[in-house]
Amino acid sequence: MPIINTKIAFIGAGNMAKAIISGLLAEGFKRINIFASGPRQETLGKVSSEFGINISTDNAATTANVDVLVLAVKPQMLKEVCLGLAGSLSHKPLIISLAAGISTESIGSWLGGDHAIVRCMPNTPSQVRAGASGLFANANVSQAQRSLANTILGAVGIVQWVDDEALINPVTAVSGSGPAYFFLMMEAMIDAGVELGLSHATARELTLQTALGAAILAKQSDVDIAELRRRVTSPKGTTEQAINSFENDQIRAIFARAMQACSNRAVELSEILGK
Ligand SMILES: NC(=O)c1ccc[n+]([C@@H]2O[C@H](COP(=O)([O-])OP(=O)(O)OC[C@H]3O[C@@H](n4cnc5c(N)ncnc54)[C@H](OP(=O)(O)O)[C@@H]3O)[C@@H](O)[C@H]2O)c1
Repeated sequence: MPIINTKIAFIGAGNMAKAIISGLLAEGFKRINIFASGPRQETLGKVSSEFGINISTDNAATTANVDVLVLAVKPQMLKEVCLGLAGSLSHKPLIISLAAGISTESIGSWLGGDHAIVRCMPNTPSQVRAGASGLFANANVSQAQRSLANTILGAVGIVQWVDDEALINPVTAVSGSGPAYFFLMMEAMIDAGVELGLSHATARELTLQTALGAAILAKQSDVDIAELRRRVTSPKGTTEQAINSFENDQIRAIFARAMQACSNRAVELSEILGK
């Protein structure tokens, strides 16, 4: 079966589901094969008019005959949702969970049976098809299902697989939460630019374009990122002053501590939410 004829159901039709649905349609997946369910007709009505896909307030009915079931509800809702779906999955669709902090083992035990489950940690730039997702597959996932999950998450950005589920926590620390670190850095750069005399609008435009340009340059270049940095850091020049200031203030240790705290919290949340 051509991959674009895959039947996919989304349980939860919020931000992340909408981002992926939009990406799938742009990739040529067919709207008649896409289903979404949720508790509120109002939310579903908007999704239906925006994408022209099938909608329902009945989660279990939505899963009938689908090849893939994407769990796109908040982590706190996942147990209740899975328990409600447990009797409806004898056709064994591939399960893709987007829920932060919930293990494939917990999801499997709530759904009952030996389901093929891919756990995904996406990020918000998926909304503009520039996302970065970390994926882990449990032992029941076939090669074909792995490739299907890759195509589905690949519709909203890049995909990286990890072969140990515990590595989803560092993925959370790097890319799941990463957009917020860059936003924080942008806020700080804009504020500092204003402090130095620029208008807010000018500082904002220059900061955003610099962030975008640096990322594109780093992605397209085959030289190391440290070397790209050295190339804009002439001895005794202006950039060197800023870089020395950052290094003296222990910027690397600041990032290491922040990301360790993030990863630790991901571990704590999975212990709380997985019960
Ligand atoms: N956004 C991110 O950057 C990001 C990153 C990593 C992981 N994730 C994960 O992605 C998942 C979805 O996040 P989101 O940002 O898309 O959340 P969201 O916008 O709040 O969407 C959640 C959706 O679930 C629906 N829902 C609530 N109870 C339900 C139920 N019993 N059955 C079916 N649907 C139900 C809600 O419906 P109503 O709107 O009608 O209430 C809502 O549309 C979360 O587990 C989150 O951890 C998100």
